[in-house]
Amino acid sequence: MLLPLAWLWSASLIPSSYSVLTMGPADTGGVPGSHPHLPGAAGGRDVTTLVEPSRAAPDVEVTLTARQQKVTVPGGPTLTAYTLNGTTPGPTIRAREGDLVQVTLVNESVPGGTTLHWHGIDVPNAEDGVAGVTQDAVPVGGRHVYRFRATQVGTYWYHSHQISHEQVVKGLLGAVVVTPRAGLGGDVDVVGLSHLYAGRRAVQGRGGDVPVEVVAGKWARVRIINTDNGIMPVWVSGASYQVVAVDGTDVNGPTAVEGKKVALAAGGRVDLRVQVPATGAVRVEMGGAALVLGPPGSSAPATRAPTDVVDLLSYGTPQPLGFDPTKPDRRFTYSIGRRPGFVNGKPGVHWTVNGKMFPGAPMFMVAEGDVAVVRIDNHSGETHPMHLHGHHVVVLARDGVKATGSPWWTDSLEVGNNQTMDVAFVADNPGIWLDHCHNLPHAKEGLQAHLMYEGVTTTFKLGRDTPNSPE
Ligand code: C2O
Ligand code: CU
Repeated sequence: MLLPLAWLWSASLIPSSYSVLTMGPADTGGVPGSHPHLPGAAGGRDVTTLVEPSRAAPDVEVTLTARQQKVTVPGGPTLTAYTLNGTTPGPTIRAREGDLVQVTLVNESVPGGTTLHWHGIDVPNAEDGVAGVTQDAVPVGGRHVYRFRATQVGTYWYHSHQISHEQVVKGLLGAVVVTPRAGLGGDVDVVGLSHLYAGRRAVQGRGGDVPVEVVAGKWARVRIINTDNGIMPVWVSGASYQVVAVDGTDVNGPTAVEGKKVALAAGGRVDLRVQVPATGAVRVEMGGAALVLGPPGSSAPATRAPTDVVDLLSYGTPQPLGFDPTKPDRRFTYSIGRRPGFVNGKPGVHWTVNGKMFPGAPMFMVAEGDVAVVRIDNHSGETHPMHLHGHHVVVLARDGVKATGSPWWTDSLEVGNNQTMDVAFVADNPGIWLDHCHNLPHAKEGLQAHLMYEGVTTTFKLGRDTPNSPE
């Protein structure tokens, strides 16, 4: 009894310094001979070479200084938080479609080092901000420059990907908005980044009702961002609404919604289009906090969260996907479970991916240009918001029921317990990409895998003898 236990314990110990390339076994998705490009092997493309090709001067240039400091959330708690340029959330970065964006991250006082990840923006791999995979964490006194082209219109966010389960919760985050060249057709553009500070919800860094001045009769596009670890209900009091974008991608043929809520996954975004009524206001509710859109002093009665949910599997009108997922080059399974065992010498009931505990999750191998289909199934007893870096996936089916609405492109997909999601994507962004649960403590506990392109390699290391601890 003792001997096998001791063996399991010692076999679970994680080296003090290791490469992401050697974490788990390669999963070739049915294509023989595809394997990670191991450190020391000849050739290969280093992640640091996968950058934005243009050396031009940026169209949007921002410096974000990260600090640890005491923050008082108006209408909320006072806590020790992480700020960017003195606030949490940090400044909203706004770009127009096609702009070259350059962000300099300066770490003034975040003790464990920090990075910035561009959640939902399919940036070149070197810009992805994952400590130990695409860069070293930026130490106190250090800086790091990120450059990417804002080719995707929509609502995104940035956050630390170093000790993320702690740094994100404590506010090291902000919004990114990319607007179309042609503008928003006269809609008022409102950002509603939601975050729980010490367990209390705030929108745009304020608790309670947050007024937004909009004249009567005007339409607004309200960009809701869920930066927390759990799912968030979003609904509207005082008007119907349309879900016009999901995770940055416009919905095709959105219809008016009434008496339903959106169930917004951790990390996910929805853009809601609402019209301010002739008298009064419209409330965009997030459970504990709300944006109140209307003329100064206007108000509207709050309502309780509807029980019915907008089903994105059937919402909107179908449209060609732009690729054919019926004959994929690779087929993967990402099966999430849980069982007793050891992770890094710690006994517990640990998450598994395809039956393996951390760091044994597969490395999903692809070649550039492949079409990949992934079946995500979850039998772990809990729900998981799954996030693949560097790509958007389209939902093909849920529990075997085919999607019938607008193409549901997502980067943050809630996979409920005992649920199965079939998704597809095009491997068009070479690199090494995390594919993890965005309930960040789950990721830290080991609910993570990687998508790797053939021939791409990294010299960055993780582990306690390195500066890097991405989760
Ligand atoms: Cu929002 Cu791996 O991150
Ligand atoms: Cu999870």
